[in-house]
Amino acid sequence: MSPLPSKLAYVPFVSVEHMMGLVHHIGIEKVLTDLAAEIEADFRRWPLFDKTPRVASHSDVGVIELMPTSDGETYGFKYVNGHPKNTAEGLQTVTAFGLLADVDSGYPKLLSEMTLLTALRTAATSAMAAKHLAPKGARTMAMIGNGAQSEFQCLAFKAVCGIDTVRLYDIDPSATARCAANLAQSGLGVVQCRSGEEAMEGAEIITTCTADKQYATILTDNMVGAGVHINAIGGDCPGKTELHRDILLRSSIFVEYPPQTRIEGEIQQLDPDHAVTELWQVIDGCADGRTSDRQITLFDSVGFAIEDFSALRYIAKAIQGTPYFTQLDMIADPDDPRDLFGMFQRAKPQTA
Ligand SMILES: NC(=O)c1ccc[n+]([C@@H]2O[C@H](COP(=O)([O-])OP(=O)(O)OC[C@H]3O[C@@H](n4cnc5c(N)ncnc54)[C@H](O)[C@@H]3O)[C@@H](O)[C@H]2O)c1
Repeated sequence: MSPLPSKLAYVPFVSVEHMMGLVHHIGIEKVLTDLAAEIEADFRRWPLFDKTPRVASHSDVGVIELMPTSDGETYGFKYVNGHPKNTAEGLQTVTAFGLLADVDSGYPKLLSEMTLLTALRTAATSAMAAKHLAPKGARTMAMIGNGAQSEFQCLAFKAVCGIDTVRLYDIDPSATARCAANLAQSGLGVVQCRSGEEAMEGAEIITTCTADKQYATILTDNMVGAGVHINAIGGDCPGKTELHRDILLRSSIFVEYPPQTRIEGEIQQLDPDHAVTELWQVIDGCADGRTSDRQITLFDSVGFAIEDFSALRYIAKAIQGTPYFTQLDMIADPDDPRDLFGMFQRAKPQTA
């Protein structure tokens, strides 16, 4: 019989079922608020992190990406895909999982599903950015693109920014109907709209969260009035954008990590030296955010590794003392570290 794995062999694993249980246990709006605070805290210590544009493997139909970072103590990465054609085949556009490891030993500390966690962290990051950039007292958000991320976005803006009304629009009315039904008990006023223009009426915040592998024009220049905050989520790959270029030219643009956003974000439509502000600097107080009521602020979000790192670290803390994880026998841990083969040998089934 194989010897039992040692304690060091085990890595806590959070499955999809556990993630759902944990988030219900804590309460989704509290999770979104806590995540926004965790991400904001890491944006305040931004210079300390290892940073690199994510490593992307593109195909004609989608992209598979690895997103690594480290704060010197803990290393993290996420695997994530983006395949806009997937929903038509009954698959999700975005799926993900991720890992945290101890920098000192290199041993993994947590393995987790991240499809749900990506939706939560993206929504928390969007709302955290809007807290710093959106007009004060904003209550109404237009939500364009009512797919997998959309309810999470709406709830994060309610919990973190005090949004009380969302105006939904999707080219597929059944997506809007589903999103509205899912938000029926949320306490948000929900308005189903038949066009992007209708969704825009009275909105101080505009979130675009569509999926299309092309230079799309979800918002045209005439749809965007003075003073609004745009939270642009769906333009996150080379050749995949949502906003007309003229909107960018009228906006103050805030980004996560410029070397990645220049490749993937809305600003891929602009000159490579077009001025942008790094969001962490606004949070840290060393750069201006919104400076006037008529200014259009644009968070050109593509999703950066530090947000996933913050989210994984939050989950690692949150599962302590709960039943929402299992231990995976993931690390080979021989008694003598150099006798890996001996451990393998002892596991050989005995013949009678
Ligand atoms: N910035 C980030 O951090 C981040 C994180 C996660 C996902 N994303 C991106 O967000 C986007 C949405 O992700 P999802 O998981 O919700 O995708 P999804 O496929 O579930 O939903 C996308 C929705 O957009 C709608 N849509 C497509 N074209 C439209 C148009 N012209 N007008 C209005 N609606 C339109 C579709 O009908 C669909 O309902 C994707 O592009 C994804 O890559 C970004």
